[in-house]
Amino acid sequence: MGKLWGGRFQKNTDHLVEDFHSSISFDQRLYKYDIKGSIAHARMLGEAGIIQPAEADAIASGLEEVLADIEAGRVEFSVESEDIHMNIEQLLTVKVGEVGKKLHTARSRNDQVALDIRMYLKDEIGEVIALLRELQVSLLDLAEKHLETVMPGYTHLQRAQPVTLAHHLMAYCEMFRRDEERMADCRRRADVMPLGAGALAGTTFPIDRAYVARQLGFAAITENSLDAVSDRDFAVEFTAAASLIMVHLSRFCEEIILWSSAEFSFIELDDSYSTGSSMMPQKKNPDVAELIRGKSGRVFGHLQALLTMLKGIPLAYNKDMQEDKEALFDAVDTVKKCLVVFRPMLETMRVVKENMATAARGGFTNATDLADYLARRGVPFREAHEAAGKAVFFCLENGKTLDQMTLPEYKEFSPLFEEDVYEAIKINRCIGARNVPGGPAPEEVAGVIARARQRLAGD
Ligand code: ARG
Repeated sequence: MGKLWGGRFQKNTDHLVEDFHSSISFDQRLYKYDIKGSIAHARMLGEAGIIQPAEADAIASGLEEVLADIEAGRVEFSVESEDIHMNIEQLLTVKVGEVGKKLHTARSRNDQVALDIRMYLKDEIGEVIALLRELQVSLLDLAEKHLETVMPGYTHLQRAQPVTLAHHLMAYCEMFRRDEERMADCRRRADVMPLGAGALAGTTFPIDRAYVARQLGFAAITENSLDAVSDRDFAVEFTAAASLIMVHLSRFCEEIILWSSAEFSFIELDDSYSTGSSMMPQKKNPDVAELIRGKSGRVFGHLQALLTMLKGIPLAYNKDMQEDKEALFDAVDTVKKCLVVFRPMLETMRVVKENMATAARGGFTNATDLADYLARRGVPFREAHEAAGKAVFFCLENGKTLDQMTLPEYKEFSPLFEEDVYEAIKINRCIGARNVPGGPAPEEVAGVIARARQRLAGD
């Protein structure tokens, strides 16, 4: 079959070019959106009297049949037809004859492809949001069980101050909530209907763009035809938001990998979410977490690719833009896959509370509370810090922890130390006393969890 654009050409496309510029191998993923968009376009052409209503009907039912054929696996796409848009148009014309050739009236592949990607992305964002919400619910469930599970909080990966596992988990819950918001925000800007922009300068036909937007469930129509066919901001925004999801997953995975090491032993991954070594019989590896951490690089790479692809192209459409798809599709697939597998890995891991608590008791995580003790008794905080630091040094020299120091030993560092210092530096009290909003005190964290649950149940 000849090219749909063949009229002006005297020679066939070289087979090297054919193979090089065809996008059907990957853009076939858009078939559903392409057909849905074409049906809406055909109906509009009929309503507006641009084609006969009977012709619109014939095209619409022909497109439904093409859809059924594709879904039943009865279609073999052709590289010669270049992309999904022309493949479907060819299939339609084979099915319904001459009338199929009217479908492309008042339309270009440039506005068509922009429409398809926007529709596709809106759907995928819905799925990513659903996965993010499920993950947040899992985090809430887990956090609820560990409101009192003491663990060290770290800075510089050095034990810093005691927190709870619930507080630690809820930090990630906040990140995933922001990720959800970013996705919703991205969807808002993707939700604008570009059809009618034509190749770049609209059309002379009396089309009804608002009708098409309504049929396809878009909130608005684009305001500038040049922008409509050359804007891929939404793909960049999605990939940027997806990159942040991957950053968050990757940091979490890094912690899971550390925590499951013998050196930490804070958690044990379930056998079903770990793998063995082909040589070392004792090994149980956190491959899933490592792979998520590793896959983050793909998504960041796609963001870079999209930005670079766009930055130098003059308005309006350029074929460079065909490169948006593989990057976007792989970003979508990767982030979804990672979200899907991460959640059960988290849910099935075993928390070794005793080891977390032991680690929190070591490492002088209560030294700040010792300084605060003196500061509350009027010692300027800088001096209190100095005295507490010296006490820590004394302990290090003598192989003690702060709670093992005697009161006379304490008095060496400040006469203001009294018997109640022991209560002040108890790990549970250190956490409980940090009841500022956003702090790790269990009642605070319980409030955060309750509010998060309400939000997730509400909208
Ligand atoms: N396959 C093309 C793409 O993905 C569709 C638009 C082609 N338009 C054109 N004028 N060559 O971008």
